[in-house]
Amino acid sequence: MPSRRRVMAYGALLAGGATLAGCDESAVQQATARLQRRLVLPGSVDGRERLRALVQAATLAPSSHNTQCWRFVLGREQIRIEPDTTRRCPAVDPDDHHLLVSLGCATENLVQAALAHGLMAEPQVGADGRISVALAPTRPRLSSRYTAIVQRQTTRGVFDGRPLPAATWRQLEDAAEAEGVAARLITDTAGLERLLAAVVAGLRTQLSNRAFVDELVRWLRFDAEEAARSGDGLFIGCNGQPSMPPWLARRLVRRFLHADSEARRSAEQLRSSAGVVILASDAAGGPARWVEVGRAFQRLALEATAAGLQLSLLNPPVEVAALRAPLAAAFGLGTLRPDLVVRIGRGARLPDSLRRPLDAVIA
Ligand SMILES: Cc1cc2nc3c(=O)[nH]c(=O)nc-3n(C[C@H](O)[C@H](O)[C@H](O)COP(=O)(O)O)c2cc1C
Repeated sequence: MPSRRRVMAYGALLAGGATLAGCDESAVQQATARLQRRLVLPGSVDGRERLRALVQAATLAPSSHNTQCWRFVLGREQIRIEPDTTRRCPAVDPDDHHLLVSLGCATENLVQAALAHGLMAEPQVGADGRISVALAPTRPRLSSRYTAIVQRQTTRGVFDGRPLPAATWRQLEDAAEAEGVAARLITDTAGLERLLAAVVAGLRTQLSNRAFVDELVRWLRFDAEEAARSGDGLFIGCNGQPSMPPWLARRLVRRFLHADSEARRSAEQLRSSAGVVILASDAAGGPARWVEVGRAFQRLALEATAAGLQLSLLNPPVEVAALRAPLAAAFGLGTLRPDLVVRIGRGARLPDSLRRPLDAVIA
């Protein structure tokens, strides 16, 4: 039975402070995640409430380590999306690439939600990574990408290994099309094995780096109460793993975070996927390019979700700087910087991750 303190922690996340006394923790975690994914009905709100509805959809985007590294400033006909630099991850993301890609994902959700609410959104990225999204009235359009916002999740489970039709891959590649962003599709066994070798090399480098492991452990959430208290981070229940008392898990986790077991998990994940899309962009990079990569990735993710597919990321070979050029060379990407490694397939959904309350991210 959950303690009263635990139920209170979840209760704080629920609208109106209601609690679900008597439910077990993971059930409450899932109920909270479901409530956070109830979008405001388009046409039912206007003014500031409509802008808040767009922000809610934006916050359901993926972010590296689920840091939710964004802040939203509401204007009259504009929303500004700003990086929250207190949520940087300098060990895994020293140049803020992932931070800006995450902002790009949030921007794409906001654009799709705006359209559903009768607003045409035009994002412009400043040199400092701030994104000004101008909003102008248009005919409301309820797209399948919009309805997929609440369904999309990062699914780290094993997929069913079945291939996808060529037409589906074309549809996903079209969704990811963006100026200056390339999408390289890998579905052959030899290609996937070469990619696996790069993922394992990246994992070994990362897991032998104390700063990387310390940072990762800081963002891990070991039980549903810890996940609910912060509303962010990587709850191990979202990977289908059983909860552990956080005080114990934090002492033991470094012993279990082994490159060999992580490599085995990555092999299962990759070999059970229908294929992988590597997104890559101009090596000169910078905020505007990385936000564009995030938008392209999010369109791909929403399109895949709408098609009933699951996806997750295997980014170690793009996060370890020394592995990026060999990865690009191995997959014919020339001088481009590989940005994201996205595996796609059919598989069972896992529990959804949590988000922080709207008022915590609206300035
Ligand atoms: C830029 C970026 C990099 C990410 N890298 C990884 C990764 O290497 N491995 C992984 O399992 N998830 C990765 N993720 C997924 C996040 O962990 C995930 O989005 C977050 O935990 C929230 O969960 P959700 O996507 O299910 O909403 C990444 C997400 C983003 C936006």
